[in-house]
Amino acid sequence: MKTVKDVFEAICGFEERVGKFYDSISDEVRGGYGKFFEKLAADEYRHAKIYTRLGEMASENETVILSDEDAEYIKNMFDNSVIGENFDFDKFSKIRDKWQVLDIAERVEREATGYVQDVMGFFPDFAPDEVKILLKEEREHLKMILEKKNQMSSGFLGL
Ligand SMILES: [Fe+2]
Repeated sequence: MKTVKDVFEAICGFEERVGKFYDSISDEVRGGYGKFFEKLAADEYRHAKIYTRLGEMASENETVILSDEDAEYIKNMFDNSVIGENFDFDKFSKIRDKWQVLDIAERVEREATGYVQDVMGFFPDFAPDEVKILLKEEREHLKMILEKKNQMSSGFLGL
């Protein structure tokens, strides 16, 4: 994972899995949330398309490469992703505990915001306007998940 294209391809795969993650949420957890998870899934698939396009643009610019240190860092992040390539969607789809699902979603969205910030740090001149929009949207997702978690914990505490 050395070039800007490699990084975008890895993030694109991640975003597609995030979309599938939201689509795999059990009906028990989904109930009461309306179209909440559907909207998140649609956003993530759209992000995957944006990352694909940015990766294609980047392939014309193969001179941009990561330092060994940055490459090792980002590889380690993807290798230890909350929803890596071996994520068990079938097992996940059987979880009925809302808190557990929101907890994983929070970790996923923190990871997503982290990747956008990594891209900004690694390649500051590469498509900055589009990357800024991605950051804004991922931060909004994180906020939405945290709000749902806060509503739940207020319920636990009877507030
Ligand atoms: Fe997201």
